[in-house]
Amino acid sequence: ASKSVGKGSAPVNIALSKYWGKRDTILNLPTNGSASISLPGLGTETQVKIISATKNHQDKVSLNGELLEAEAPFAKRVSNFLNYFRGNSHTLFEVTTCNSVPTAAGLASSASGYAALVLALDDLFEWNLADKELSLLARLGSGSASRSLFPGFSVWHQGTQTDGLDSYAEAIETQWPEFCIGLLEIDVKQKPVSSTQGMQNTVETCALYQAWPEQANRDLQTILNAIEEKNFSTLGKTAEHNALTMHATMIATWPPIVYWQPESVEAMHKVWQLREQGVEVYFTMDAGPNLKLLFLQTEKPAIKQAFKDVKILEPFKH
Ligand code: PMV
Repeated sequence: ASKSVGKGSAPVNIALSKYWGKRDTILNLPTNGSASISLPGLGTETQVKIISATKNHQDKVSLNGELLEAEAPFAKRVSNFLNYFRGNSHTLFEVTTCNSVPTAAGLASSASGYAALVLALDDLFEWNLADKELSLLARLGSGSASRSLFPGFSVWHQGTQTDGLDSYAEAIETQWPEFCIGLLEIDVKQKPVSSTQGMQNTVETCALYQAWPEQANRDLQTILNAIEEKNFSTLGKTAEHNALTMHATMIATWPPIVYWQPESVEAMHKVWQLREQGVEVYFTMDAGPNLKLLFLQTEKPAIKQAFKDVKILEPFKH
């Protein structure tokens, strides 16, 4: 390394058309493509450096100001990922990472985490990699991290190669200043089933899952067209339907995976009621109980009134 410290930061992203299921669990190759939107101001900042030998020959990983035990799942996963980047087995890293995601947002941070770590490594080793290569590397840490290198909309190509070199994400250049996201916090506790475990169980035990890759890729195409045409109704409907279809496969998995809480379902009904009243709002959900609302700026007052604790973000306004 020619630098002593490498730094990187990356935003969290929310999938509009989801990634659920891997065709390769080591390389994180998906069974379908996906599209997302990044949230400005929410994400991860990471620093990385090479350190001289430690007592137990382990990396040092700290998260939000706290040095983690080498055996902690978070630290183990980071060290495992860093194995790709050790010139030899004696190389050890110190990783200092902070999530600027307020605990209140209830957002997963592995996407921004691995994107920020890859940017920090790129800075440390002065690789100057192109976006495509950065995305390929981030994908190895967490699939959804491939989409966290870009502001605004992004698309992750499924790819068909077994080496995964055609499975990376790219920025979609569209600006859409009226586009709003509302974060509805239902519960911020650690999810009971990780997405890695959840996907694997779904692929292995859910008969309905057979229908997923085809619908997911169809939804992805519809969403990409809707972004290009700025057709909010089509985007919202497709995103909501896509999220519910993904959750249907989770529920039909054994043992069942139900990320929803009663309050999640209550909030869904509220969204549907609002739509009946003419307020155009849709929701999407990931591997957790929280809802992410999708709406345009004109509906901001109605959304604030209906959901008093909603945190509203405008991804295209800086
Ligand atoms: O990147 P992972 O392994 O955390 O999986 C993310 C899965 C979902 O968030 C549910 C969907 C997605 O496309 O982000």
